Amino acid sequence: MTYILAHRGSAGTHPENTMEAFVAAEKAGADGIELDVQLTADGEIVVIHDITVDRTTNGSGYVEDFTFEQIRKLKANFHATHFFKKTTRIPSLREVFEWLEGNGLLCNIELKNAVKAYKGLEEKVIDLVREFCFERRTIISSFKHYSLVHCVHLAPEIQTAPLYNEVLFRPWEYARSLQASGIHPKLKSISAEAIQVAMDCGIAVRPFTVNKERDMKKLFAINCSAIITDYPGKAFRIRNQYS
Ligand code: G3P
Ligand code: CA
Repeated sequence: MTYILAHRGSAGTHPENTMEAFVAAEKAGADGIELDVQLTADGEIVVIHDITVDRTTNGSGYVEDFTFEQIRKLKANFHATHFFKKTTRIPSLREVFEWLEGNGLLCNIELKNAVKAYKGLEEKVIDLVREFCFERRTIISSFKHYSLVHCVHLAPEIQTAPLYNEVLFRPWEYARSLQASGIHPKLKSISAEAIQVAMDCGIAVRPFTVNKERDMKKLFAINCSAIITDYPGKAFRIRNQYS
């Protein structure tokens, strides 16, 4: 079965990377969530996509310049009020984990450290995963592949997967070179044939961001390991046609 991972939660229907988006993803039938993490000035792991708060909140400035107390005052639905009126906040990864304790969802944690380095992010994330005993429910991904190798050294029991946007030559071999258990390619960067070879080689393939019905159908038909989608409810309904 192809797992459905809700991209930034159910980001197509709720403000991205908020508790509301994650709860909606679970209700929609997702098998897991994907989220983005960065560090505040005082070292809290927060769930937000951009390196600044400008696009998704009513604030302005770099995430790394806010304390957790300051960033919590921002409205994370500010630019989504046309479809979501209730005020919602930027969650900490701890808050998301406390909620995950009550369900069995997978958690794909994307380290947003390709632009800003965020010293110690890998260690902090892994410490939290271990504190909650989520090692088997976690996949760490990043566009910064050196960071994933560092994660494998720190925590070989936690799965990793490189994110990438361009077509790679034999990505399953590249994944092995990183000691990663999967790959997270941009949808257009991998063919059905390459997906099949990777899976046959034991490398899980989880393309992003799969929002169109025809793309979902193609991936469900070949039993792709997982899809990362903004619309977990739509994916769940379509997947039911394949079981
Ligand atoms: O993890 C898949 C996807 O989230 C990577 O790109 O920019 O949406 O974080 P982005
Ligand atoms: Ca992401």
